[in-house]
Amino acid sequence: MNMIVKQCWSLCSAIRVYNFGNMNMPLSVQKNISLQSLNSFGIAAQAQFFVRIDNAAQLFQLRDDAALVALPRLILGGGSNLVLSDTVNALVLHIGLTGKQIDSEDDHYVYVSAAAGEKWHDFVVWTLRQGLGGFENLSLIPGTAGAAPIQNIGAYGVEIQEYIHHLTAFDFLTGEIVSLSKSDCQFAYRDSIFKHAYKDRMVILEVVFALPKVWKARLNYGDVAHLLADRGITQPSPTDVSDAIIKIRQSKLPDPAVIGNAGSFFKNPVVTKELRDRLLASYPDAVNYVQTDGLYKLAAGWLIEQCGWKGQSLGRAGVYSKQALVLVNLGGATGADVRNLAQRIQGDVLQKFNVILEVEPVFF
Ligand code: EPU
Repeated sequence: MNMIVKQCWSLCSAIRVYNFGNMNMPLSVQKNISLQSLNSFGIAAQAQFFVRIDNAAQLFQLRDDAALVALPRLILGGGSNLVLSDTVNALVLHIGLTGKQIDSEDDHYVYVSAAAGEKWHDFVVWTLRQGLGGFENLSLIPGTAGAAPIQNIGAYGVEIQEYIHHLTAFDFLTGEIVSLSKSDCQFAYRDSIFKHAYKDRMVILEVVFALPKVWKARLNYGDVAHLLADRGITQPSPTDVSDAIIKIRQSKLPDPAVIGNAGSFFKNPVVTKELRDRLLASYPDAVNYVQTDGLYKLAAGWLIEQCGWKGQSLGRAGVYSKQALVLVNLGGATGADVRNLAQRIQGDVLQKFNVILEVEPVFF
């Protein structure tokens, strides 16, 4: 297990910076490496250059190499939110940093940290075994702990931003390791600064979470409360909630180990009251949820299903038969197959409902 080395904390404006001692680990850059087993869509892509990052010191070495640092970069965690082209003309940094621990506690919170390469669901299970609640609604989400903040993973009424205290990242621009607070990360629905200004610039190394000591089950979303009631559970523990979420996810979402996919392919569109009212006038059963800011979130899965795409396919890419928001690899799909299908769906939804669907995964 690699430990992330933390030394010499010092304050640098609003951002804490720490330095490394002299850590010269060998940097092994490989050429023409298959990424098929490293992306949850199972696309048979090839990386032009590939390096596995097991140690933060390797990032310093990489930045010092003029040829390597000049290449386009793809930072690869669990590869679960990615649509790859046949050839990835870039240096792929596969983040293999591991380690998790309970850091400290105060009157209100327990602080736990996970290195970026830890598998998210394994980390959730580990926290539950430590008797810590908070992540249970986010059970079974594919991907790594380091990727979780990038798209602000969310499910069953909970987003990860609620529990993020701060994170550390390597900044390719300055060559420093920085600590970013929750507000620095600019979280929004399936969004953060790592998809924008810090894209390709920051490599997340470790995430520190604050889990409240007073735990309360969050059962407002969909079928969770019903499933627990069916099981005769009236006072659920965090593990009971996790078990229910796992059951629900398994019943409607494809397992990437069996059917390649990247989870929800589109964001649920957020629209004005005016647009939502117009939609309801024509389609009274359109699924919509009011947001705290008075805008409305529409269910993209519903919109796609109404366009007749559920269970349909185009080339070797398809729309999952149990959840239209998920695009799947029917076997041998390329990034182009997935892109074509996504564009056709976007076109149909725009034409029928006048609603723009935004894609969730990153195309590279
Ligand atoms: N719906 C349909 N047809 C479909 C799919 C959904 O009519 O084919 C309707 C459902 O009947 C329901 C509504 O759409 O009324 C919402 O469906 P669901 O509860 O399955 O959730 P979602 O909005 O489609 C979001 C997240 C999921 C997350 C679930 C549960 C996004 C983009 N997706 O999906 O996240 O698991 O809620 O919280 O916000 C992911 O990001 O990869 C992901 C799976």
